[in-house]
Amino acid sequence: MGAICCRESSLDLDSEVDLSHFALLRSVGKGAFGKVRVVQHKGTKQLFALKYINKARCIQMRAVENIISERRLLERIDCGLIVNLRYAFQDDEYLFLALDLMTGGDMRFHLDRLGVMPEAYVQFYVAEISWALRYLHKKNIVHRDLKPDNILLSDQGHAHLTDFNIAVQFSDSKPLTSVAGSLAYMGPEILLKRGYFASVDWWSLGVVCYELLVGKRPFRGKTNEALQQAILHDNITFPESSHVSPVARDFIAGLLTRDINKRLGVGEKGFRRLMSHSWLQHIPWDLLETKQAVPPFIPDSKRANFDPTFELEEILLNDNPLKVRKRNQPKRSATSNANTSFKSHGSEVVLSETSPERQLMEDKFLTFDYTKPEENERRKAEMEQHRWAQKMTKTNAISTSYFSTAKSTAATASSSSPSATGYSKGQESYSRLASSFRYYGFQHLTD
Ligand SMILES: Nc1ncnc2c1ncn2[C@@H]1O[C@H](COP(=O)(O)OP(=O)(O)O)[C@@H](O)[C@H]1O
Ligand SMILES: [Mg+2]
Repeated sequence: MGAICCRESSLDLDSEVDLSHFALLRSVGKGAFGKVRVVQHKGTKQLFALKYINKARCIQMRAVENIISERRLLERIDCGLIVNLRYAFQDDEYLFLALDLMTGGDMRFHLDRLGVMPEAYVQFYVAEISWALRYLHKKNIVHRDLKPDNILLSDQGHAHLTDFNIAVQFSDSKPLTSVAGSLAYMGPEILLKRGYFASVDWWSLGVVCYELLVGKRPFRGKTNEALQQAILHDNITFPESSHVSPVARDFIAGLLTRDINKRLGVGEKGFRRLMSHSWLQHIPWDLLETKQAVPPFIPDSKRANFDPTFELEEILLNDNPLKVRKRNQPKRSATSNANTSFKSHGSEVVLSETSPERQLMEDKFLTFDYTKPEENERRKAEMEQHRWAQKMTKTNAISTSYFSTAKSTAATASSSSPSATGYSKGQESYSRLASSFRYYGFQHLTD
């Protein structure tokens, strides 16, 4: 399939990475709000998976913080069993993440085709994903969206964890409280809203393991409420027709244990118990990360391991196809804020923002190029500098306004300070953005 691009003569592959550096090939996936297609770097000819997210839709779904966080977390991750970030960039309409391409397809695709998976497959995938979770948890990152759709197979058949959209870095002293994830895979401790840490990923792994072996999920309900009740109270049962071995059932029961102190995988002890569980005792744990362990199944490289409807949809239904677009919106400079201006009307300072969400993306969704680590570091330093300058400007503007207000309207200053009006406007928009993170969690409740 041909590339869609601007005039090749104007292409400068040494310039900062953008969409023009890639030839756009077939569509391979679609998630909650991101689309994914194969791209080829025009210089190195290497293939990547390009995940792109429409900015307007991202704002509409209140997921701006999520995508910024996804990009930031991915930069901190380097694990053989996780889909790594290679490039990040944006244009006026989209945010882009170029990731290692997994041509083996996602676990949902394979499960749909097979109905149920042989135990030998599931043992191997569960072991690889456990290793990836262990890596994340050691870094205090919890994934929160483990499900078959987010497990991808490489061409060699190794399982990789992907989609860090609602992943979060936690502090040991502050439990997470937001309801985030896909309900059917959500641990009971999330629903109970008493705070949680990384234990939730082991519960989700239990649901995934059951689903791969049985072809259905362990907890079901016609409504979200019924599903929540099932997660909180139902026993795990296996259909009579199921051939799942007793030792596999015991392993699943270990993961789907409501008491997090007893749950398999949780903490140092829980992970050791998981590694030595008889269902996984044949796994060569020390060979997993380097991918020297032999996968049970090698995806057919002659077949496309993707749902062909993604490609068809892209061709037939997309009236705004992805293409290289020149940027109109000015980028943030290191020292000035392009979209935020402080206007002084007499004694009143008004914080005027055209779109705080767009500005946030501009400021914080930094360009990333895995071949240029020094430039990545420079951008991060610039962002810090910019944040600092912004903070100082705000503080100065507010205090200037406060003093002039106090002088000219001393009689009414106590009832309503105009400077305070300007400040709270700014605060309001930022706290709205902060709460969008939690809201996105609720959005997932219904999917
Ligand atoms: N690196 C990749 N290689 C191949 N396919 C991918 C890759 N990343 C994502 N996909 C496909 O795209 C789908 C959506 O990607 P994902 O990152 O999960 O986005 P979302 O956050 O929108 O769910 C995945 O379920 C998978 O089928
Ligand atoms: Mg996904």
